[in-house]
Amino acid sequence: MERLLKGKVCVITGAAQGIGKAIVERFAEDGAVVYAFDRREGIMDQWAETCSESYATRVIPVCCDITDSGGVKKALMAIYKQEGKMDVLVNNAGVVFNRKIGMIVREETELMFRVNVVAALELMQLVARFMARNECGSIVNIASVTAVLGSPGQVAYSATKGAIISLTKSAAKELAPQGIRVNAVAPGIVKTERFTELYEVTGDKIDERINRIALGRLGTPEDVANACAFLASERASYISGQVLGVDGCASI
Ligand SMILES: NC(=O)c1ccc[n+]([C@@H]2O[C@H](COP(=O)([O-])OP(=O)(O)OC[C@H]3O[C@@H](n4cnc5c(N)ncnc54)[C@H](O)[C@@H]3O)[C@@H](O)[C@H]2O)c1
Repeated sequence: MERLLKGKVCVITGAAQGIGKAIVERFAEDGAVVYAFDRREGIMDQWAETCSESYATRVIPVCCDITDSGGVKKALMAIYKQEGKMDVLVNNAGVVFNRKIGMIVREETELMFRVNVVAALELMQLVARFMARNECGSIVNIASVTAVLGSPGQVAYSATKGAIISLTKSAAKELAPQGIRVNAVAPGIVKTERFTELYEVTGDKIDERINRIALGRLGTPEDVANACAFLASERASYISGQVLGVDGCASI
């Protein structure tokens, strides 16, 4: 079977768990060379080795906090020097603090904007320079359905994801002449480690949430990863500036 991303050099952030980990595995299975960024050291080493062997490709863990712009620049320059190209960026790393309006804390809001928006934008800036040299590339930003539908308890977080959608649309227009496509994926509720922790802590009624999902189930990290692989690939070569909902047709 044709491997959708064969030989593509891909950078994926927030790769150590949840959606990011599933994206790395999907991309590796599709033949990509994957640089898996996460701020946590060591925890990807064994898994990256297994992935590389299983999918006959290279998965390389990169320990990097994406808010450290100097560190990110150094890491990306080293990748470009090694590979001679950069084909795909998936801006997946994100943090969330769920707070009702009255309980919003400035430090948490600032951290969400620093990681979810500013760092993602700076990664796009840097990667676009490398992509422009080959006049092709695909950037996929992970937004959220909360940016489109709104979600109680996620006022500040949903604002960061709204910003991601806006910058996706503007960057798509600006980078198109250089052959770079920019799209966003907006997941609904996805069953990840973070999700499990959240619902264990808050005791929210998950069945009520599922009732508002037309397809009748939560999303999986693999659902999101499949959408990212499509948008990253040549099959989506005429698609840019779009927000692809992966939410089971939800009305939060
Ligand atoms: N899980 C959901 O229901 C859901 C829904 C919509 C959108 N999203 C978005 O999808 C993305 C992934 O979500 P998830 O549930 O897998 O999250 P997660 O918390 O399980 O994983 C996030 C990963 O990002 C890494 N990370 C966080 N800050 C970082 C930093 N500064 N530098 C480098 N790495 C950093 C973490 O170490 C972690 O491995 C996020 O952008 C999130 O906002 C998730």
